[in-house]
Amino acid sequence: MKSTKRESWTSKLGFILAAAGSAVGLGNIWRFPYITGENGGAIFLLIYLVAVILIGYPVLLTEMSLGRKSHKNPVGAFKAIARDNTPWWLVGALGVFTGFTILSYYSVIAGWSMAYIVKAANGFIAEADFAGVFVEHISGVGEPLLWHGVFMAITVGIISAGVVKGIQKAVKVLMPILFLLLVVLVFRSVTLSGAGAGLVYYLAPDFSQITAQTLNDAIAQAFFTLSLGMGAMITYGSYLSDDDNIADSAGYVLGFDVLIAILAGLAIFPAVFALGLSPDAGPGLTFITLPAVFAEMPLGALFGFLFFVLLTIAAVTSSISLLEVVVAYMVDEHQWERKKAAQIIGIVVFVVGIPPLLGYSALSDIQFLGMDILDTYDWFANSIFLPVGGLLTAIFAGYVWRTDDILDEINQGNSVLKIGVWFKIMIKYIIPPAIAVIMFVSIWQTFV
Ligand code: PFF
Repeated sequence: MKSTKRESWTSKLGFILAAAGSAVGLGNIWRFPYITGENGGAIFLLIYLVAVILIGYPVLLTEMSLGRKSHKNPVGAFKAIARDNTPWWLVGALGVFTGFTILSYYSVIAGWSMAYIVKAANGFIAEADFAGVFVEHISGVGEPLLWHGVFMAITVGIISAGVVKGIQKAVKVLMPILFLLLVVLVFRSVTLSGAGAGLVYYLAPDFSQITAQTLNDAIAQAFFTLSLGMGAMITYGSYLSDDDNIADSAGYVLGFDVLIAILAGLAIFPAVFALGLSPDAGPGLTFITLPAVFAEMPLGALFGFLFFVLLTIAAVTSSISLLEVVVAYMVDEHQWERKKAAQIIGIVVFVVGIPPLLGYSALSDIQFLGMDILDTYDWFANSIFLPVGGLLTAIFAGYVWRTDDILDEINQGNSVLKIGVWFKIMIKYIIPPAIAVIMFVSIWQTFV
């Protein structure tokens, strides 16, 4: 049932940009390069691409269809399509919980990016010790806390205002600029002397490096980067009108998302090798390597400044989709007023984000399986919650909601891409066992 007050995207392009805005974010520019660096480079890139196309695309189609069919938040969507008195809505509830968890630490990292805007404006690009600057920043308390708060306040502000107009307009201008800036960075990075080793590392796969962990990290990254497994695309799909085509829209979102991630890797790895840094430096990789690339460029300070502005904006267009999942749930299912929901949830998310923020200072003694608190949040969200959410969504699509009905929903409207029987095969027979086995083995290996 469609309530009269529910917003709708005002154009097909508006939806694509908002969904691409959700997909393109810290996951592409911050997370993808460092996870690739921890998993042997090119081999990870290859498996990640396979995971995005064979697992990500069908799940993306399914989530958008679930949203459009029901015009509901994730919990409401599963309730609307499942038979009464079945517990499928719990998959939506897991998604809401996951969105909440991811946003809490996503905002901390976006806060680092905001702090780097100010640092760039103050001329830090001229300094030589970028690793030192990064460590000093994250092991502080006041500054990271301030920026975490500012970032959450911006996210709450946009979501309170309603999701459509502001975002649609802003994303249309900013995404192309981000793209161009990345191209400039790639150019500088690959022309540094000694960059060749980085290109080999990033583009020539070494198959001996594959482990269950590599596969699981690739699936996790595919879900994270496409905003899947937690209902964000269900929620955005719920604002989609009936004559938009899902197959094409999802294709654009995926294409743009993958392109930005590949470019981010091309900007980072050649520079990592040229500058004698280590590709497996972890979450600091982007924040340490890219300033070093800017330092090697004419007008580096200006480019550095611009880059962190755009990275922050890319983070905002993703964080709003994370918050929107939780807000849409409270508004639809518990009749909260939108503004109140955004503010209250925003405050709780801010507080839940404080432990990972302090994991580099006051709480640095707290470790889980050798990971700090932020990595622990990230591990639970990405290695467990998102794959489980995606797995259950695929099972739901394949065995509860009839796949013929989903295909009707996907292929509705004029489209270039026509989705056929391969979708049924993937969603029913390949995706669920693939995720289950890989996740099980990787978790087993983590603990044993
Ligand atoms: N896709 C975003 C990124 O790559 O940064 C992160 C994200 C947004 C994950 C929304 C999940 C989500 F629902």
